[in-house]
Amino acid sequence: MVKLLGLETSCDETSAATNQNQCTEQNVTKTQVVHSDYGGVVPELASRAHQQNIVPVVEEAFKGASFDKNNLDAVAYTQGPGLIGALLVGNAFAKGISLSYNIPLIGVNHLHAHNLSHFIEAPVPDFPFLNLLVSGGHTQIVLVKDYLNYEVLGQTIDDAAGEALDKGGKILGLPYPAGPVIDQYAQQGEPQSFQFPEPGIKGYDFSFSGLKTSLLYLVRDSLKKNDTFIVDNVANLCAAYQDCIMRFLARKLELAAKNNGIKQIGISGGVAANATLREQVYQVASKNDWQVYIPDQAYCTDNAAMVNQVAHHKYKKGLFEDLESIPFAR
Ligand code: KG4
Ligand code: ZN
Repeated sequence: MVKLLGLETSCDETSAATNQNQCTEQNVTKTQVVHSDYGGVVPELASRAHQQNIVPVVEEAFKGASFDKNNLDAVAYTQGPGLIGALLVGNAFAKGISLSYNIPLIGVNHLHAHNLSHFIEAPVPDFPFLNLLVSGGHTQIVLVKDYLNYEVLGQTIDDAAGEALDKGGKILGLPYPAGPVIDQYAQQGEPQSFQFPEPGIKGYDFSFSGLKTSLLYLVRDSLKKNDTFIVDNVANLCAAYQDCIMRFLARKLELAAKNNGIKQIGISGGVAANATLREQVYQVASKNDWQVYIPDQAYCTDNAAMVNQVAHHKYKKGLFEDLESIPFAR
């Protein structure tokens, strides 16, 4: 019975999870609210908030778990990519646990963890499956061949999908993070009311910065003629902008699935919560006979339970870090 403590501190969620043999016992996540006034995550504030949160979050993760710190087999932490100061908090804390309880230290790649978030709760996909990872920091299509074996087929060359929503929301004067707000507004809007050009990038890669610029120019030019343009059109703007992003994601996912002959499809990351993305993917899924897996929202956004999913398999293979282990931003 492998007993793990996992830590996630790559961005603005401080999370700790206790696991026994791949099963999550407790997953405790504290989302930092300090960034909401700044329209994005402020790295230094994130590091400080992680320092404040890490001890109570870890204590909470042991409450209700069937084992305590003395029974741990290993401690795992998110090694990167992410904000370096934020990662360092998890790295230092994990090293402290490793040293004081004399247990192995396991470094986990954050994107690898998002890909294995599908194994936290049933139903789980069969290998190989394709994972569309869509978050505030990342957009990738990944061919997951096994627990510890995956290949990135395509990724964004500039902004991530969530970042495109958050930056678009900033242009519209919406609060950060704008993804869920845009999702809400879009439900009362008409996607066809404005035309945004779908990025013409080849293969399985993505690009969102041009789309964001076209929203910026549309808003700038329209405000010159009508200074209440945003207020008058917010639902339609959200619907059209979001629709373009989600259609683009679904189209690339379909292309990758067809070309690789895969019908097991996962979506993970914060943007997986988006109603239009789900609708688009389910439409493509019924046409292509796909099985679609989307984790519970708590496991779509950053969490430590997914760190433990990777850590469990690394533990079984003896893939440990020494105390010289350092995090990486990219
Ligand atoms: O995975 P996540 O919690 O953190 C990162 O690793 O980035 O993702 C956060 C991103 C933000 O960009 C946020 O705007 C977006 O997920 N998001 C959404 C929704 N809920 C969160 N985007 C679209 N629709 C939503 N319902
Ligand atoms: Zn993430």
